[in-house]
This record gives sequence, C-alpha cells and structure tokens, in this order.
Amino acid sequence: MDNLTHYINGLPKAELHLHIEGTFEPELMFKIAARNHIRLKFGSVEELRMAYKFNNLQDFLDIYYAGASVLRTKEDFYDLTWAYLERAHMDNVLHTEIFFDPQTHMANGIPFKTVIEGITAALQDGTEKLGMTSCLIMCFLRHLDEESALSLLEMAKPYRNQITAIGLDSSERGNPPEKFERAFAKAHEYGYLTVAHAGEEGSAYNIRSAVEILKVARVDHGNSCLTDDSVVDLLKERKIPLTLCPLSNLKLKVVHRLEDHPILKMMEKKLLVTINSDDPAYFGGYVNDNYIAVSKALGLNVEQIGRIAKNSFLSSFLPETTRKKYLDVLNQYNMAF
Ligand code: HPA
Ligand code: ZN
Repeated sequence: MDNLTHYINGLPKAELHLHIEGTFEPELMFKIAARNHIRLKFGSVEELRMAYKFNNLQDFLDIYYAGASVLRTKEDFYDLTWAYLERAHMDNVLHTEIFFDPQTHMANGIPFKTVIEGITAALQDGTEKLGMTSCLIMCFLRHLDEESALSLLEMAKPYRNQITAIGLDSSERGNPPEKFERAFAKAHEYGYLTVAHAGEEGSAYNIRSAVEILKVARVDHGNSCLTDDSVVDLLKERKIPLTLCPLSNLKLKVVHRLEDHPILKMMEKKLLVTINSDDPAYFGGYVNDNYIAVSKALGLNVEQIGRIAKNSFLSSFLPETTRKKYLDVLNQYNMAF
C-alpha cells in the first residue's frame, strides 16, 4: 500500500454527505427483496450492478428510487443503516451525518415511524457498539411540491429530538431552492439547522439562493460556485462549508475526469471543503475511496488531505466538546504519522 493510501485509511474523519438509501448494496437489496417477497427487475447482483451506468443525476435517481422501494419494515431500515455504519467504521469515520428521504418511503406506503425508528435504532447501536457518533438530516424531495415538504415537517414533530437538520435533495433542474422558502423558514422556526444540495447540476445562482433565501449552514456539492466570484466571496464571508462528493460527480458526469474536479481550486480560494461519498453503493466507493481517488488525480499531499479531514469536523453539527475531542484525535494521528 502506498503512503498516501495508508495515511487516508487511518485518518480520523467525519462524513457529512451520505444518503442512507444510497448505501443499499445489491447483495443486501436481494436479501431484503426475498425477505419481503418482492421480485426485482434484475436476475442477479451482477445484472443489477451492470445497470449502474448514468448519464446524469436523473438517470441515477430513477434507479435509486426503484432500489429504495424494496425497503418495507423497521428491520429493513435497521439493516441498511447498520451495514453502512460498519462499513464507515472501517474507513475510520468517527462521526457521520446521514440524509434520509421519508417522502420516498411514504409514497411506497411505509409509515414515517417505521423509517425513522429503524434508522435511529441502528444509529444508537453504532454509538454503543462501534463508538461512532451520528446525526440525522431529513431531506425534502425537491421534485415534489412545497405543501408535501410542509406536511412532512409536521409529521416529524414527535421525532424533533432525533433530527438535527433539514436538507433538500433530488432533481435540481427545474426545482430551485426558492421553491422551498416557506418550508425552510418553518424548519428554522422549529429550531432545525438546514442544508441543501445546490450547484451540483444547477448554476451558482442556486448556491446563492440556498444561502440567502434558505439560510443553509452548509451547501451540499456546490461545484458550480467557481463560475461566479461573488458566490465564492459569499461562501467565504459566511464560512459556509461545501460537502463535495468526487466519485458521485464522476459517475453523474458533473465532471468528466477527476483531474477536472474543482476541490483543489476551491482550497486555493480558501473555501471550507469536505470529501464525502454521497451514494456509495451506486458510485463505486465509500469515503476513503473518494479521498484516495481525488487525491491521486489532483496530486494532493498529506498536509492538504489532513486539512480536508479537519474541515470535516469543523463543518459538522457536533457539539463543541465532541468536536474538540475529535480534533485532538486528528492532531495526534498527524503527529504520529
Ligand atoms: N443529488 C441530489 N439528490 C440526491 C443525490 C444527489 O447527489 N443523491 C441522492 N439523492
Ligand atoms: Zn447528495
């Protein structure tokens, strides 16, 4: 193993952009489908994996929502989440902030309670058995209307303490942040932090709207900010982190080669960038694979990679005492390396 890979594998880190439905590995999908007496369109794990070829975000979303429709019971959501936690633990993820899409499951007739109770039971075991901390980010699907987002907020009320933040995901084209101005205002009123996917397939204008209109604490992706200096300045002034996902960007053709990934230019502009896996079961790699692939493509050195891991803790929604503890662990790792 080369020195850089060795450094990344052992590097303490937080993951801040991870859709739990996007961690659904084909093997587990077949197992859960059989358990629920569901016939998949694909005959085998290999055939399913072969279908993971996407030309854009929508191509991916169509397959991702089809996969998620296999999830029916609390045990299914538990198993999905637990499998991710065990995998992330192997990558030295100390803390993870997980997106979930309740509207996807509710459209399949699954109660909100089933989804959140399955996920949170696994998160609790993650803390007790693996020593990992975590929090939940409930996403609004932006291809649905704002009324649906508002009613989801009401439905989540009994679980207010289990949800740290509200997010916005799904198809960015045609569904700009301002479509959800009222729902995000309500989320703030209820005391949630907020984040939003913006500037993945959309323009820098969407990043500005997410910050100024939705008042997000972080922008998910944010790739297109480099096309507008005033948006870069806005992100810098307000210290808004970006949760970048290099292998996702490659698979969804947001970048055509990892050598073209904007992370290095963003670091040169002193933006607070992090590396994450987005939907690792679909995009060919977990968080360390993302760190390794983009570091090699752009020739990042150990110091730059260590800074990205530091950013992951600085950008997290951790309470200050835990943040400090993890930053100390990271410091010690760097001093010993
Ligand atoms: N973008 C938007 N919506 C998503 C994504 C993404 O990368 N992954 C899962 N839902
Ligand atoms: Zn995402």
